[in-house]
Amino acid sequence: MKRNSDNIVTIDGPSGVGKSTVARRVAELLGFSFLETGAMYRAVALKVEEAGVDPSDTASLTRLLSETTVGFDAAGRVLLDGRNASELIRTEQISSLSSELAELGEVREFLIAIQRKIGEGGNIVAEGRDMGTYVFPRAKHKFYLDATVAERAKRRFHQSGQEDTSLLDVESELQRRDRRDTLRAENPLHPASDAVIMDTTHMSAEEVVSAIALRAKDISLIPN
Ligand code: DC
Repeated sequence: MKRNSDNIVTIDGPSGVGKSTVARRVAELLGFSFLETGAMYRAVALKVEEAGVDPSDTASLTRLLSETTVGFDAAGRVLLDGRNASELIRTEQISSLSSELAELGEVREFLIAIQRKIGEGGNIVAEGRDMGTYVFPRAKHKFYLDATVAERAKRRFHQSGQEDTSLLDVESELQRRDRRDTLRAENPLHPASDAVIMDTTHMSAEEVVSAIALRAKDISLIPN
């Protein structure tokens, strides 16, 4: 039986490949909502940082999560306990802490339950690391974007505009996050067996968007 929750496009891939930009544009084209799950891990990291909780203290972390809400407003801004956190989550410190927290089963379970709830009505483009493999295994269209680490570092570097970091620093940080994302025990990053794998090294964001839109053209908004 066809369920509304199958009416989902997933876009997974490593850090810095441009998933958010592409997924946001694809969602606009389809008239779907955009689910940026990386922002949810970052919001939890912000909460952990503000509360001063040690991520290895499982009891305190679990208690903190039970007092936390993560969601999105209508404009797609991430809400942490009801307040807009979309700016505060973009620091290097939060990037690093979110990557550390994403290894923990307690954090993943907490966020995946929210992600599946959001996905119940379908009509979403979901981006992250485990969207097609684990969170929405029945999604109608799955894409896995890849690019060389050198190219991803370039994209990140130009996007961040940070003057105090070098391209080489960005590249080694990406390599560190790649290792964490692919080697972790819980839902590691890898393409779903039924995902379309796209090497975007020599493609512009708009070319990637067009290629996805072309493949997913049979998907359309289900009224709900
Ligand atoms: O995509 P991002 O850089 O904003 O993600 C932040 C961190 O969260 C990153 O280290 C990987 C992790 N993450 C994850 O493990 N699973 C997801 N579905 C999304 C992000």
